[in-house]
Amino acid sequence: METKWAEALMFLLMVVGLSNILFTIHVYGNNEDDYLKKMQMQAIQASFLPRPQRPSPASKLASSSVGSSPLVYHVTSYGADPTGKADSTDAILGAISDALKGPGNGFLMEGIVNLGGARIDLDGGNYLISRPLQFPVAGKGNLMIHGGSFKASQDFPNDGYLIDLSPASNNNGSTGYNYEFVTLKDLFLDSNFRGGGIQVVDSLRTNIDNCYITHFDTTGISVQGGHETYIRYTYLGQRITAGGDPDERSFSGTAIVLSGNDNSVTEVVIFSAAVGIMILGQANLISGVHCYNKATGFGGTGIYLKTPGLTQTRIVNSYLDFTGIVAEDPVQLTISGSFFLGDAYVVLKSVKGVASGVNIVDNMFAGSDKGIDIVQLEGGFNQVDQVVIDKNNVKGMKLKATVARGSAERNGASSWIADFNSVLVFPNLIKQVQYTFITTGSSFPVHALRNVSENKVLIQSDVEVPASVYVTADQGEHFFSLLK
Ligand SMILES: *[C@@H]1O[C@H](CO)[C@@H](O)[C@H](O)[C@H]1NC(C)=O
Ligand SMILES: *[C@@H]1O[C@H](CO)[C@@H](O)[C@H](O)[C@H]1NC(C)=O
Repeated sequence: METKWAEALMFLLMVVGLSNILFTIHVYGNNEDDYLKKMQMQAIQASFLPRPQRPSPASKLASSSVGSSPLVYHVTSYGADPTGKADSTDAILGAISDALKGPGNGFLMEGIVNLGGARIDLDGGNYLISRPLQFPVAGKGNLMIHGGSFKASQDFPNDGYLIDLSPASNNNGSTGYNYEFVTLKDLFLDSNFRGGGIQVVDSLRTNIDNCYITHFDTTGISVQGGHETYIRYTYLGQRITAGGDPDERSFSGTAIVLSGNDNSVTEVVIFSAAVGIMILGQANLISGVHCYNKATGFGGTGIYLKTPGLTQTRIVNSYLDFTGIVAEDPVQLTISGSFFLGDAYVVLKSVKGVASGVNIVDNMFAGSDKGIDIVQLEGGFNQVDQVVIDKNNVKGMKLKATVARGSAERNGASSWIADFNSVLVFPNLIKQVQYTFITTGSSFPVHALRNVSENKVLIQSDVEVPASVYVTADQGEHFFSLLK
């Protein structure tokens, strides 16, 4: 611990020291060149203050005239109105266009120009937007848009997104990707019930970080194709509410659509929308997500996996709060370490009746004693393989599992029956049975497993004996034949 603190202190001193030096150079370093000095002052001002006045074109990219300074494009320098009154669409598109035209520093993926960390700075303003802020060309990477708010105007198109990472002109990237390593950070996006927040199309390694996206009526964040869009520390809600909203039944829209592979949604809160996260691709990770978007009782879904036949999704450490998970024909799905509150449950929905490689384990379920099953089936499943629903704990809901243990009830002088229908998830499916037969009598009876059907196990002995019979039944384990 002590060394960590010392390191942090050293780092802080270095940062403070460095910025002092830089500041000194900027302000006092070049007395001969008044023009340069003026430009540098402007650069410093621009990075601290919103500049509502229309500046001269020369100061648009104040720092570029210095040459060695980083490329920071202040939207207020392009005439954007940080008070949110005048339409700032053209001004911001101008800043984006200049940033994309900026000097490249080699390439990231083939055909993607490395813009060297160029930043489009919103100067902490709130801007009115009447058309999608769509990137004009493809093939650019390593840039950031950050630090302010966008609000859609009353005439913003209903099918648009405030920020649209799809090229206005045709994609010419030889690798098929539009953008790489674009970061959208510290943004407040208000779609004004017209269209969506952010669209990312065929892009690689996009970061959406610390954003608040609201008043979307289609989708908050839509990821189409590409891979590795990382959405983190972000809040999404159609209405601004803190739960128990009287209008919850009318919540609509989807907070996040992942129509691609290898994306990740971590530490995200979804506080209103009909569907929290819609997943239409593989190998996506959902972790630390709190969904209280629309209660299942009102027709909402927290996470919808529309990937029948190949799911390959991990949902871990998440909080499903009055809204549940639906998985169509899940094939390779893990749901674990999560908390389901308010009678929230998991639905396995049959398309072709396949459920394979499903682990729903180590979760907590809490409800209000209405007898709601923690895992439910919609439609019949006829191909069930390696499905493990076990080791979940339950309070005020009904436990369902694919592994059940219990003592068999005596069913006549020499027969015992164990009925697992109240616990097992799948009807009429027991793949393995183990039983223990303990007799306290003096005789040594012959006993056998006589019948397994309709989730009931029948054990019989040849003679009447006092006995306790314990049975374990399993629906999901893969059966390995050890015979050669
Ligand atoms: C399209 O890409 C190819 C190679 O990547 C390049 O030679 C060509 O100039 C590009 N065309 C346009 C219109 O940018
Ligand atoms: C096994 O039990 C089922 C009812 O649970 C019954 O229909 C079936 O005939 C039984 N099979 C045998 C071989 O006894």
